[in-house]
Amino acid sequence: MARILIVEDERAIRKVLRDILLNENKSYQIDEAENGQQAIDMAGDNFYDLLLCDIKMPGKDGVEVLRYYREHSPDTQVVMISGHGDMDTAIECIKAGAYDYLSKPPDLNRLLNTVRNALDRKNLIVENKILKKKVNRQYQMVGESPALQVVREMIDKIAPTDARVLITGSNGTGKELVARQIHEKSNRSSGPFVEVNCAAIPSELIESELFGHKKGAFTSAVKDRKGKFELADGGTLFLDEIGDMSLSAQAKVLRALQENKITPVGGDKDINVDVRVIAATNKNLQEEIAKGNFREDLYHRLSVIIIRMPTLAERKEDIPLLIDYFTRKISEEQGLPPKKFAPDAIAHLQGLPWTGNIRELRNVVERLMILGSNPVTLDEARRYV
Ligand SMILES: Nc1ncnc2c1ncn2[C@@H]1O[C@H](COP(=O)(O)OP(=O)(O)OP(=O)(O)O)[C@@H](O)[C@H]1O
Ligand SMILES: [Mg+2]
Repeated sequence: MARILIVEDERAIRKVLRDILLNENKSYQIDEAENGQQAIDMAGDNFYDLLLCDIKMPGKDGVEVLRYYREHSPDTQVVMISGHGDMDTAIECIKAGAYDYLSKPPDLNRLLNTVRNALDRKNLIVENKILKKKVNRQYQMVGESPALQVVREMIDKIAPTDARVLITGSNGTGKELVARQIHEKSNRSSGPFVEVNCAAIPSELIESELFGHKKGAFTSAVKDRKGKFELADGGTLFLDEIGDMSLSAQAKVLRALQENKITPVGGDKDINVDVRVIAATNKNLQEEIAKGNFREDLYHRLSVIIIRMPTLAERKEDIPLLIDYFTRKISEEQGLPPKKFAPDAIAHLQGLPWTGNIRELRNVVERLMILGSNPVTLDEARRYV
């Protein structure tokens, strides 16, 4: 059910618009305002889906109404209605964020089409916001410890830049989560986030995987294929487990980073790509450099910013929060009944070494939710870890 506000000082036109719209769809909820001030007074927080707004009105005009709604009710779509002689203003309004304009007297088909499209757009915007929220919740970073606070502040500072980031830390400390957060908080967030697990791809395939290939470049290349660099254009490329990449692949990645250009395997033309690279590793790259397994020049290209993920043992105070978070999440995802943990069970879990870090904790919580009683007892926490 769409809510529409007609803002128009001439009563006859308000009535015509209302009749046309109701004739199109009886479920439209239509309100009327006879001047700009009234339209502003009626603005709730994204209460209206659509405003049909006259430009010339005594007192506050349509331009002021538009400006007010853009600021206070940004999801509301505003369609201007322009009379003779305010064409230029109508165009200005579009630049200022109006969805479209209609000339007076409005052509029936164009009016209905514009209204339909504006409402579709509004729905899309809202759906997108909901989706985004869901995604964000999926990648929530839980914890209040000083060690995690440092990471959070780093993320907030560097996310809006295009600086390359190297995330280091042991298994399961949340490196991928950080990479996703940086992307979500960057101005590339509407672009793609593309992940490559460098350890999982055989070295002879990695070049094609990263840079793509042309049809016929090798026996199994039956058609052109885009590489991850190209797929990440306009967004973020996450090179996970970079420490496991072969030296020959490292040389090619280095070139891509130096020149912002790639060449597909078997291709003769360079492709320009606009990609922010975030890399992660659980290896000590300095040691790998010393052993001759990792290129020092690539290391310097990748590590403009370094984020070191604390181990779970370094942030024990977050364990109760994480247990609580995983309990709710697992219960939501798997339909398991939510469970509490007895305080001494939590204290016991806080004392463990957690070599597998947060991933290990998550697995333990899941196990205890399946096997434990409610609340989970100390004895169970001892037995099932
Ligand atoms: N601070 C956190 N709050 C909530 N969940 C977290 C947090 N950190 C990590 N996780 C979760 O823990 C799991 C492991 O995290 P992630 O995959 O990011 O770790 P990783 O460092 O990339 O591990 P690996 O080195 O094994 O690839 C994921 O399910 C992730 O969502
Ligand atoms: Mg990972």
